[in-house]
Order: sequence, then structure tokens, then C-alpha cells
Amino acid sequence: MRLTGGRLQPLGCVLALSLMALVLWEIPGAWALDNGLAMTPTMGWLHWERFMCNTDCTEEPDSCISENLFMQMADLMDSDGWKEVGYEYLCIDDCWMAPQRDSKGRLQADPKRFPSGIRHLSNYVHSKGLKLGIYADVGKKTCAGYPGSLGHYDIDAETFADWGVDLLKFDGCHCDTVEQLADGYKHMSLSLNKTGRSIVYSCEWPLYMWPFKKPNYTEIRQYCNHWRNFGDIYDSWQSVKSILDWTSSNQRTVVSAAGPGGWNDPDMLVIGNFGLSWDQQITQMALWAIMAAPLFMSNDLRHISLQAKTLLQNKDVIAINQDPLGKQGYLLRKEDNIEVWERPLSKLAWAVAVVNLQEIGGPRSYTISLASLGQGVACNPACHITELLPVKTKLGFYEWTSFVKTRINPTGTVLLQLKNFTTETNGAKDLK
Ligand code: GLA
Repeated sequence: MRLTGGRLQPLGCVLALSLMALVLWEIPGAWALDNGLAMTPTMGWLHWERFMCNTDCTEEPDSCISENLFMQMADLMDSDGWKEVGYEYLCIDDCWMAPQRDSKGRLQADPKRFPSGIRHLSNYVHSKGLKLGIYADVGKKTCAGYPGSLGHYDIDAETFADWGVDLLKFDGCHCDTVEQLADGYKHMSLSLNKTGRSIVYSCEWPLYMWPFKKPNYTEIRQYCNHWRNFGDIYDSWQSVKSILDWTSSNQRTVVSAAGPGGWNDPDMLVIGNFGLSWDQQITQMALWAIMAAPLFMSNDLRHISLQAKTLLQNKDVIAINQDPLGKQGYLLRKEDNIEVWERPLSKLAWAVAVVNLQEIGGPRSYTISLASLGQGVACNPACHITELLPVKTKLGFYEWTSFVKTRINPTGTVLLQLKNFTTETNGAKDLK
């Protein structure tokens, strides 16, 4: 529904605000890690949230961390449309290793759970047209207590490259000092580069840095393709909410760090599991798109509802996440338990997410002045608006002076896409 003729902010005020927003947010993208990877946020699957450190293949053969689990997921990523929409990296997390290095000092996979070895697994994954990710830790041990890479960065990078690994998630447990942490993350980045193999480098450097000092995101971006800032995601609304709250509270620091080649990582998608209601799953998908987040699902692709699968495979929402302009969105305003987030897209388009954080009552209406969106230019002079979530609906043509009305379920989100009318008619240039 469209409203017109309501009160507008005077034009001068809007322009001043827009200018301020440009100064605050449009800091030119700093150098990214120069490995040509992650030009859009990485997409794939990662075992941690759903399968954790389950090593008991006797009691739980179907859900223990083993080559069977990854081969089954590879089959499904290939056959069930996941690869087709962009989920490409199949990633192993902690607990894949044997408790000791081999006689040559190399990491080795647990021989019982990965009897064919990682090289074999990577061949298998590659044969499905997918890529393989692996996990290691910058310190003395991994978070779950397996061998760490401290003092072994070169040999571990070479081992991963020899095995045909395509992504490394490098955790930050068991470091003695922040200097050791920072040096280790940089060293591994250079070690990976030296192998000559294209390996996406996924860091947790800022997460482990924050308790001691404010991370230098310009530097982190020079070494990592993405980086975790905040604690681990759980399968709960409370957890998703805490990640959104952390991100909006720190957006002045983190948003400008994101861009092609380097992204803030708010952790895995838990859609398709047990803890989120349908509306909360929509919120996670919409907001991970707004945040230009790497999309790593952690779920069981063998047992997933059609509804969750359809949401995770929503091409329109994925296109927002993967938008080539590569600018992360941010919280525009919060009032009365409603949050409005927006993200600039290529071709002068914008994505807008309206989240209803009120956990009591029913759907609530919220009306937005279009002049207040997109730094005053999103819908100037006019735009086409499509609601992408919860249900794709063309809302139609709107003028800059008009209003759009949304109706949002408790803990749910309405995701809108605004396409500037001049873009469609004149092929306007991207916002710089
Ligand atoms: C840390 C990371 C998680 C996961 C576990 C594995 O907690 O943040 O994402 O990798 O370690 O032990």
C-alpha cells in the first residue's frame, strides 16, 4: 500500500543529512587481501553450529565429524540446487584432526573418521563442482584441543595446499598475547599466499582482539578475506538478536571495512535447524543479506524442510547479499522496537529491511517516508518497490514524496528492494 502527501523533512535538511551520511559511511574501501578471492561474500556450508565436535561415530554414525558426513553434504549441495544458487564452499570446522602431528610434523586427519584422508575428500568435493574448506588455529591448540598451528604456519599452509584445500577458517584460541595473535594471523596469510594456491582466508582475529584492544580493521582487511567480530552463533533468536545488536552498535567501526575481497562475518546461518521460528529465519536471511555477510549454512541438508530450503535458496535475497557494489548495509533508525536497516546496491538500487523486535502481540504496521531512505536518494525522483520477504510482491511505482507501508510479524522482517526509476530508464551510474 502506498501513501502520499504526508509531512516531509525540508529538502535542505535531507541533503545535509545525506552529506553527513556520505562522510560517515562512504570511507573509500581500504586495500583488501590481494588474492583475488571473495569479491562477493563467500557462500557455502560449515559443520560447526549443527554438528559441533561430535567424534562418536559408533553411537552416532550419521552425525559425527567424518568423511561420510562431508561426502553426503557434497552430494546434496550438488543435487539439491545449493550449488546452483551459489553455495560453493563445503567447510570442515574443528575436530577433524588426529590428536598428534605425523612424523614429518604435518597435521593429519583422524584416521578412523577420515580413513581416505583429506586429499581424497577434496578430490571428491571438487568432482562435484564444489570447493573444500578446512579449519586450524593460530595458537597452540584449536578451541576443542586439537593441535594448533603456532610455529607451524608454513608447513600447515603447504599441507592444505597439497591437499587441494580452497578455504581456511583460522581460529584464535590458545594464544598467549595479542601480539602473538596478530603476528600469527598475518604470518598464516603470507604462508597461504606463498603456496600459490587460491585459498580463501577466514579469520577470527578481531573477535579475539576486542577484549584487549580495538582491532585495526584496515590492517585486518589487508590479510583476511573475512573476519569474525563477535561470539559464536547459537540456534536461538537470542543469539541472532545479539549479533544484530553488536553489529549495529559497532557499525561506525565495521561497516566501512567491508568491501570486495574482505567482509565482516556475523557467523553461520542457522536456518533449517530447531531454534528459530519461521519469522526469525526470515529475519536472519534478510539481515545477513543487508550485512553483506558470508553465507555459511550450518544445518543438515539431509533433513531440511522445503520452507527453509526455499528461503535459503531465494535468488532475489542472495542477489542482494552478493551485490557487486559490495557495500555493507547498516541500521538507519530504531524506534518503538522497529529497526530499519538499509544497504546501497549497484545501479542506484537499495535494500531496506524493517524488523519488528516486539515479542508480544501480532503483526505491526510501520510506514516509511521514502525521502528518508537511502541517504535521501534511494527513491529520487521515483522508484519501483518490490517486497522480497516474507512473500515476493510487487508493490509498484512510488514517488520520492510518498510513503510505503509495511506490516511485520513479531521478530520477523519485511525485506524491500527499491529500484531507482532513473536507473531503469537512463541506466544511471553506481553510487560511489
Ligand atoms: C570457536 C569458533 C567457532 C568454532 C569453534 C570450534 O568457538 O568461534 O566458530 O570454530 O571454535 O571449536
